[in-house]
Amino acid sequence: MKGVNHFLVVFAFLALASTLASASDPSSLMDFCVALNGPKNAVFVNGKFCKDPKLATADDFFFSGLDKAGNTSNAVGSKVTPVNADQIPGLNTLGISLVRIDYAPYGGLNPPHYHPRGTEILVVIKGELYVGFVTSNPDNRFFTKVLKTGDVFVFPVGLIHFQLNIGKTDAIAFAALSSQNPGVITIANAVFGSNPPINPDVLTKAFKLEKKVVEYLQTQF
Ligand SMILES: *[C@@H]1O[C@H](CO)[C@@H](O)[C@H](O)[C@H]1NC(C)=O
Repeated sequence: MKGVNHFLVVFAFLALASTLASASDPSSLMDFCVALNGPKNAVFVNGKFCKDPKLATADDFFFSGLDKAGNTSNAVGSKVTPVNADQIPGLNTLGISLVRIDYAPYGGLNPPHYHPRGTEILVVIKGELYVGFVTSNPDNRFFTKVLKTGDVFVFPVGLIHFQLNIGKTDAIAFAALSSQNPGVITIANAVFGSNPPINPDVLTKAFKLEKKVVEYLQTQF
């Protein structure tokens, strides 16, 4: 019996370890793996072609421009400036990335969305944001806060979240994400703006809306 219990403990530990191991981007098998688009000068493959480490330079790990505000003159009044493996090839396999988010005064919104591959930790540098996320089914609990300059909030991987500027000035936040390429799915755009459009009958029933409202929404995305 004792042997069986030990076996179960070891098994549970291994199961946990393998879950932890797969809960983020694959770990790098070397110091770094600067992404290349083709095999020229590449020596390793670890998801992408990697630049020969001897040819890597500081610029492979560098990005400049997050001091500049994003242009928030758009329908939602916010702009996300990403710095992920597309901007910094040296981030390839390292499991981390960054964004700057600008919000227009009086209601700039980073609309409900989620990141399929990354948890997000956000710090407000300027302004006042109403933020929140909703847990998965069946509870769909809503966790929310009003954040001021210097406040930090976490959005767990895969959960729908948003930030709304409730201040009179523009607002600025920076966020780190636990993936080199966390991905983003904006709920309204994905549902009402898919290409080609989802049959309105599906959305009419799913959202308990009149069909003409669904058809109107489909023209807006
Ligand atoms: C910001 O975007 C708007 C709308 O696309 C455009 O008209 C305006 O020129 C842009 N402003 C700057 C400073 O780029």
